[in-house]
Amino acid sequence: MKDRPFVHINCAATADGKIAAPDGSPLDISTIWDRRRVHRLRASLGAVLVGAGTVSADDPKLTVNPSYAGVSRDICKIVMDGRGRIDPASKSLRTNGRSIVVTTEAADAVWLGNFRRLEESLDMKVMVLEGGPDIDIDRCWSCLLEDGISGVLVEGGSDTIFNILRSGSFDMFSVFMAPIVMGGRGPTITGGIGFEGAPLRLHLRSVVQPPGGGILLEYVSSMP
Ligand SMILES: NC(=O)c1ccc[n+]([C@@H]2O[C@H](COP(=O)([O-])OP(=O)(O)OC[C@H]3O[C@@H](n4cnc5c(N)ncnc54)[C@H](OP(=O)(O)O)[C@@H]3O)[C@@H](O)[C@H]2O)c1
Repeated sequence: MKDRPFVHINCAATADGKIAAPDGSPLDISTIWDRRRVHRLRASLGAVLVGAGTVSADDPKLTVNPSYAGVSRDICKIVMDGRGRIDPASKSLRTNGRSIVVTTEAADAVWLGNFRRLEESLDMKVMVLEGGPDIDIDRCWSCLLEDGISGVLVEGGSDTIFNILRSGSFDMFSVFMAPIVMGGRGPTITGGIGFEGAPLRLHLRSVVQPPGGGILLEYVSSMP
């Protein structure tokens, strides 16, 4: 038995690897087929995680839409926010299901005080990890596991995907690539500081050409 939840990283990208418009605003990349797949994944894993940048840029609902998933289920919404910068008024914290904001001891004290007060009125928990502002991914996974989280769908953005890939503590990485090109200097599938030496090697598990266009690439972190 693993000492962390099952971690599946997923994102939707253009054929040129962009995950948003050049100004960082959301881009409609997924097809209906892909939305169904993602909402089913959310429902089956039970938790979805994004970085503070995605909450600030998109403020997504992070819920299961029964018309896509075919089931109705409240899931846990997790935000990685090492410095404590997301807006307490974020919609992401107010949609159905409980929320966990993972932060560190480096978080701003006023921000932390505001979020502690919110814990009393919202179904929300602030998890403060030692050190910071960088969140130790393995420590984060073990705290989430202790909190009953057994599976996580990581949905972005760019920096968060890189940080988790770099940690090596994930099981699957899937990218839906739509047959569209965005160009520009908007966020790509991974950002972060990049690897200094050799790049991370993934293992391709499957390639799917779904109805409605695009291509789904599914990688695993290691071969069984
Ligand atoms: N197409 C898709 O599938 C998809 C999905 C989601 C988002 N997006 C797009 O992605 C873009 C946002 O990406 P992004 O890279 O700017 O933001 P992001 O990855 O959502 O959030 C990054 C921020 O989260 C915090 N964070 C993440 N990992 C951390 C760690 N290990 N330790 C501490 N803090 C951590 C950091 O905040 P601090 O900088 O404050 O330390 C970091 O800058 C938006 O344009 C959005 O539209 C696309």
